[in-house]
Amino acid sequence: MKIYNAIKKDHDIQRDLCDKLKETSGASEERKNLWEELKKELQVHTVAEERYFYSPLIETDKMQEDARHGMAEHHEMDELIEELDTTDMSSPHWIATAEKLFEKVEHHLEDEEEDFFPKAKEIYSKTEADNLASDYERSMQEYRNSWPENIPGNH
Ligand SMILES: [Fe+2]
Ligand SMILES: [Fe+2]
Repeated sequence: MKIYNAIKKDHDIQRDLCDKLKETSGASEERKNLWEELKKELQVHTVAEERYFYSPLIETDKMQEDARHGMAEHHEMDELIEELDTTDMSSPHWIATAEKLFEKVEHHLEDEEEDFFPKAKEIYSKTEADNLASDYERSMQEYRNSWPENIPGNH
């Protein structure tokens, strides 16, 4: 498996959780559980992706700007997550903020899949893309198991 497929697989998990969350209402058990799940997936993915997709690219001339852009969006998503965590889930503000997050996530995943992946394929060799996938998947597993503790860079 290549890093692009490994990441795409987790993006689809995020999309599915966003879609399910859109169907929930109030501070229901279902919304609480789905929110915890989405938060975990986003936070864990951000750390693993920065380490095994973006970090090596930030050293390159061709993709330095894109890598910075992608990581800045991770930061914006982190801020929305924090805002949601400090907002009453049954308030209209919560769902309005969640909508902002869903849009940002969708836009970000598209940037990565349609713009960054094709460019990265010209930088990473096939072997590198295989190795990055193994490293990425191993760290996703570790981070999922230890979330929310021991996630590097997670506040
Ligand atoms: Fe990302
Ligand atoms: Fe991603």
